[in-house]
Amino acid sequence: MLADLAHYLVTPASLEARRHGFLGDAVRLWSRSRRCRAAWAPHHAACRAAVDAAIDHLPRRHTAVVLGSGLLDDVPIARMASMFHTVVLVDAVHLAAVRLKVRGNGWTNVRFLATDISGYDALLERQRLQRRAGAADVGGRLDPLAFVRRIPNVDLVVSAMVLSRIAKAPARRPNYGGPGGHAAALINQQLQAMHVDSLAGLAARTLLLTDTSYALVDRADTIVDEGDLLPGIRLPAESDSWSWTVAPFCEEARDLARLHHVVAIDDVALDLG
Ligand SMILES: C[S@@+](CC[C@H](N)C(=O)[O-])C[C@H]1O[C@@H](n2cnc3c(N)ncnc32)[C@H](O)[C@@H]1O
Repeated sequence: MLADLAHYLVTPASLEARRHGFLGDAVRLWSRSRRCRAAWAPHHAACRAAVDAAIDHLPRRHTAVVLGSGLLDDVPIARMASMFHTVVLVDAVHLAAVRLKVRGNGWTNVRFLATDISGYDALLERQRLQRRAGAADVGGRLDPLAFVRRIPNVDLVVSAMVLSRIAKAPARRPNYGGPGGHAAALINQQLQAMHVDSLAGLAARTLLLTDTSYALVDRADTIVDEGDLLPGIRLPAESDSWSWTVAPFCEEARDLARLHHVVAIDDVALDLG
């Protein structure tokens, strides 16, 4: 509790990041990751192995970009800091503990970029233009990761378990999905599709780590509920997949555990053609 409060007080976060709930989400993620450390360890190891494999295929290692870098648990940050000239960590908010870890390890080539990568503001602007023009489509392609192209010499971009959560903070904004929120599911799908398309459009090698579905299981291992985390999104073939125990028994409910199916998709750009 005290550690959570300290994070709220000392983490440098913009008013937007605080208002849109990114800081609260980050602090909750930090707390849960500590409570579920053992249950999450195999998932973290599988994510890091996928990043290691992607690094091994690179002919050049100048700059790596991590989207949704969060607590740096999903990426082999020590290896990346030692192998790349520059590592850019992108997240809506970088907790003080993460900044301290980077500074404490002397990783002076690791940079922090705090930004909302969902593209929601651009989508809203486009909808406003469409309404004003009375047109169904005003043309052009929304490209929320265009900023990555402006970073010089990028060789690797890792989307690190952010895709399924990309609409979480926008969904808290007033009027998300229009009056009554009736189009919320469609916006969620648009934001997720924009992320995948934008990733596919990058010239660098890309690695997409994402959960795709969830299941709630009881102590008899019976699935009592399940669902899609990326409804309507078509993904290229995965190079690896595994189950992540997001919530072991007693975390969310005494007799239910939450499992997510996770995939690693190597070089999204090549697969989407
Ligand atoms: C499940 S966590 C990923 C964990 C992280 N890869 C790690 O190793 O700890 C999702 C991360 O994505 C970030 N995130 C979610 N939506 C975002 C958005 N629209 N823009 C930027 N970051 C976002 C969250 O702040 C969080 O750090």
